[in-house]
Amino acid sequence: MLVNVCSIIGFNGQITDAAPLLVDSLKKMEYRGYDSVGIATLNDGKILISKGVGKVAEVDKALELHNLPGHVGIGHTRWATHGGVNDKNAHPHFSCTSEIAVVHNGIIDNYQELKDELSKEGHVFKSQTDSEVISHLLEKYCKKYDFDYIKSLIATCNTLKGSFAFVAIFKNGLICGARFDEPLIIGVAPSAIFLSSDVLGFLKYTDKAIFLDNGDIVTIEDGKYHIFDINNNKVTRVITQVAWELASTEKGKYAHHTIKEIHEQPSILLNSINKNNNFQQFCEYVKNASNVYITGSGTSYHSGLLAKRLLAKYAKIKAEVIMSSEFHYFSDTLESNSVVIAISQSGETADVIHSVKKAKEGGSKILSIINVPTSSLARLSDSFLVLNCGPEIGVAATKSFLAQLMVLYNIVSVMSNSRLDLNIAMQKKLVKDVEKTLELDEYIESLMAKLDNEIKHIYILGRSIHYPIALEGSLKIKELAYIHAEGIAAGELKHGPLALIDNKSVVIVLNPVDETYQDVISSSNEIKSRGAVIIGISNKHHDIYDEYIELPECVDFLYPVIEVIPLQIMSYYLALKMQVDPDYPRNLAKSVTVK
Ligand code: F6R
Repeated sequence: MLVNVCSIIGFNGQITDAAPLLVDSLKKMEYRGYDSVGIATLNDGKILISKGVGKVAEVDKALELHNLPGHVGIGHTRWATHGGVNDKNAHPHFSCTSEIAVVHNGIIDNYQELKDELSKEGHVFKSQTDSEVISHLLEKYCKKYDFDYIKSLIATCNTLKGSFAFVAIFKNGLICGARFDEPLIIGVAPSAIFLSSDVLGFLKYTDKAIFLDNGDIVTIEDGKYHIFDINNNKVTRVITQVAWELASTEKGKYAHHTIKEIHEQPSILLNSINKNNNFQQFCEYVKNASNVYITGSGTSYHSGLLAKRLLAKYAKIKAEVIMSSEFHYFSDTLESNSVVIAISQSGETADVIHSVKKAKEGGSKILSIINVPTSSLARLSDSFLVLNCGPEIGVAATKSFLAQLMVLYNIVSVMSNSRLDLNIAMQKKLVKDVEKTLELDEYIESLMAKLDNEIKHIYILGRSIHYPIALEGSLKIKELAYIHAEGIAAGELKHGPLALIDNKSVVIVLNPVDETYQDVISSSNEIKSRGAVIIGISNKHHDIYDEYIELPECVDFLYPVIEVIPLQIMSYYLALKMQVDPDYPRNLAKSVTVK
């Protein structure tokens, strides 16, 4: 399946120059996807386009995107394999007459069919993208409906199959957009209107946002917006005040968002518990369910794996965890009166959304844990809890993982009859423990500097509640440092993975003192005798470790929350050691909104 995760922006500023704002907005959203960039503005009744391959700052420097004249414009950052990464495939895409230009996020499933049809009708395509069909369709329908723009937009949307959001600019200065299964948000500033895939696209200028409903079509002209549904009825949508502060999207004193977000963890840790007041209601759904399923992707899936273990041990609730990309294949087997807990930082991950839709169709209740309360997942949910950790800009999930864990611990705490008690004193102690663990930053940096520059494989071992953290740590190392890493349930070593271990291997063992301790020491012995370097992460030193990262003493069940921190820091410094940008790992995007 092709993947396409882009940012789109439209701007109608009447008196303000569009281009510098578009460039600035695209920089703010670049974390979503980033291989090429382009903008289009309107000047003297002519649409001007400038676009190229690379990050926004690079392309802007080379092409001076910010100097394109005009008060109205659209922009795009692309992250795609749908047609190669080159200038031609970068957005915006013109129609044949160059009187319409379009930027698009999503996938048009029937683009080939449409392209063939439009080509037969005389349209000439200049790119290999699916997106270009939109500008040609708009052109075709504008002609057919004598420039009735709403009718043309509706006909275009009805012709397209797939999931998409697009923004188009017309040579008369009209900006319009449509939202079909991809996010699109209006930003209402005092003297300008934005249309963006992400609030970060306009947060610097306004915190007033309209989260369009699926199927909404919008036009912006002369600083005014109008929203229509697919049946050409004018509709009203509420203006929401966005709670996020722009300050939290800046890097501050840190070199990268990723390390800043890792260090923000003590300050956001308890927001997820204290700023949600519907835990009881959420837990009632879980209590009344015949079966509990948990779903999520990547890091969010790992949170689910930990939740399963905690729910079983402390709340005596059996939950099945199914990664969202696999959920589809199980959805027919879900019993009615099941509850599906969907975990997603963005609330927009396509695999998660599809899973939830399937489950909902089958009669399950949907509970979600999200960072973006206005996201598609929130809207699909019967009840949701918010992470409240602020925007996460680094592509790799760090602080949102900790926030997810806190929400999940609190659910277990509410349901566990005090077997797992996350009382206020314990919460305060946890913040201190997280702070203390973060003080290891420099020490971990020096440890990573000591590792062989040619390091090819890292293994992370853990048992029980530490195993999901082993998986999470290995995902962080893979995506940030491009080093092969594998999280292994320590007891599984002898069933296969031990064959991989030799004197070039680096093995990290997650080994706080609890019921798993002795068994992990035994595994460490097996590893040691094969000559590997062992890095122990524990609250108790052992001679078997070649290197030791000391965790503060804490209650057994909370070790996952603090032991993941050294792994996050390691991944960050390994990325720097490998001379790659930790904020923008290659081939990845923050919000994977397409299957
Ligand atoms: C890993 C990472 C991804 C996301 C995954 C799900 O660092 O960021 O694995 O966790 O794409 O994203 P959300 O949580 O937004 O659904």
